[in-house]
Amino acid sequence: MRFTAIATAASGVGVALSSSILLSGGTIIAFDEEARALDVIRGGSLLVTDDRIAALYETGKPKDLPADTEIVDCTHKIISPGFVDSHRHGWQTAMRTMASNTTLPDYLMRYVGPAAAAIYTAEDVYIGQLVGLLEALNAGVTTTLDHAHHTWTKGHSQAGLDASIDSGARVYWNHNFAGMGDYGIPDQIADFREWVTTRATADSLTTIAAAYDSWTVAPPEDTRAVVDVIKELKIPVLTTHWMGGVWGLDNSPALLHSLDILNTSTAVVFSHAVALDPIAADLLTATNQFISITPESEMHYGHSHFNSHMVQDQAALGIDTHFTFSTDMLTQARMWLQRVRSRLFDEVITRWKVPSNNPMSANQAFLMATRQGALSLRRPDLGVIKVGAKADLVVFDGRTPGMLGWADPVAAVMLHANVGDIVHVIVDGQFKKRGGKLTFEKYDDVVDRFLASAEKLQRLVGEKPAPVLEGKWFGRDAEYGHADEVDVIRGPGTGYGGLFLDTSDKSRHGPEYASVRGDGKDEL
Ligand SMILES: *[C@@H]1O[C@H](CO)[C@@H](O)[C@H](O)[C@H]1NC(C)=O
Ligand SMILES: *[C@@H]1O[C@H](CO)[C@@H](O)[C@H](O)[C@H]1NC(C)=O
Ligand SMILES: [Zn+2]
Repeated sequence: MRFTAIATAASGVGVALSSSILLSGGTIIAFDEEARALDVIRGGSLLVTDDRIAALYETGKPKDLPADTEIVDCTHKIISPGFVDSHRHGWQTAMRTMASNTTLPDYLMRYVGPAAAAIYTAEDVYIGQLVGLLEALNAGVTTTLDHAHHTWTKGHSQAGLDASIDSGARVYWNHNFAGMGDYGIPDQIADFREWVTTRATADSLTTIAAAYDSWTVAPPEDTRAVVDVIKELKIPVLTTHWMGGVWGLDNSPALLHSLDILNTSTAVVFSHAVALDPIAADLLTATNQFISITPESEMHYGHSHFNSHMVQDQAALGIDTHFTFSTDMLTQARMWLQRVRSRLFDEVITRWKVPSNNPMSANQAFLMATRQGALSLRRPDLGVIKVGAKADLVVFDGRTPGMLGWADPVAAVMLHANVGDIVHVIVDGQFKKRGGKLTFEKYDDVVDRFLASAEKLQRLVGEKPAPVLEGKWFGRDAEYGHADEVDVIRGPGTGYGGLFLDTSDKSRHGPEYASVRGDGKDEL
């Protein structure tokens, strides 16, 4: 009886319009608010009515289901809350594999900001953002905090917003304010204000939110204006890249607190938090704000995250530049789990002792990828399975070759599952992936449009020579340092090895793609 509750939406006024789905006979990874812990229901069923989890049944066939409930058999399946990605730049999808060995300075010079603005049309932003979010849905990411730094003109900005809405994912579209040529902060604020008042609707799955990175570099009146509009419009979420350390960009909690934007009703998500220290951690706790740890990107670029495991109660996980690495939270959580274990085991081993316990569990990693992301957005109704929570759900096949034999569903998902094991994805009570396939209408047309855009962008990105990183890094007055490169083949070896980027290779995307390439639509 712990979990059982009867759907409220199924009785009374809404009867005729409500729709219900019963996920029947699976293993449910629920959350018990009282125990503040995951709780597994075996052979259970989950009733979705409209956008909510209406009831959880422990065993047996539920009685008194609302009329016309669709029954979905979940025997041998694991039902998980949807994953929450607290840091992503969806618009960049088209540059896939172009930056496999990039460094952060190179990335900032070639794949983002003015360099990207010069080659991206509004259509490129739209289709990259849409395909990037569909890719996330396919991977079980039901909520994304998108740090939208494609806001170079009104057209580019709106394209990203439209794509977020059209994707059908739950998206916090965090419009990045940054002075760009003719499109300055006052114009950006005017357009933002217009979208918040005209585009934000109560039933939309996209929430318009804010991003800002220029705290230390913009004219103070611009920063003031951004803070003021966030407060005036009660924008629910603000995000910023907080680096510090060798990198500069010290957009710290203390700095934001001094500008009166940390301790308000707006949730603030600090991505990376390289310079996290105990004083910053206390401030995050006192103001209930979160950091976003992006394990794969922080390792790829070398940001580091030395202290992030010290604030896991005020931390969520994110993906970041998915065009260069994994797009799923399973991988992020798995990497973070093993990174923390390795970090804390090293402390024992450097004392010349043998570890006698394991410092972090699969349960904690799972919570990081789900509930913590939701809490970073101040959304206790997301990232958990409990009665009354939003019906954002992921169903894993427990009988694939890599899953066979599991006893602990949390360990199965965290340490063995891959995106291919995800059968169904439900957001706000609607199937977004069903039977292993995205339900997005005309997905094939979207793929063709996307590939045309990617072909053009990759050619243009490929034409840009890699910057020579000498002298000083512009983030602060630091010098560049060379990392030792490692080789695999003995003897003279093969050195670093080439990048296999042939953007003219027409065989890459199959025959359908060859037919859409010829029509000239891909030209700038
Ligand atoms: C945040 O605001 C609350 C309520 O106004 C106040 O009690 C608290 O001291 C503030 N915390 C900080 C760290 O400023
Ligand atoms: C990446 O690989 C290319 C091709 O091998 C090489 O020229 C370039 O220096 C590498 N970049 C970095 C940052 O290592
Ligand atoms: Zn980022």
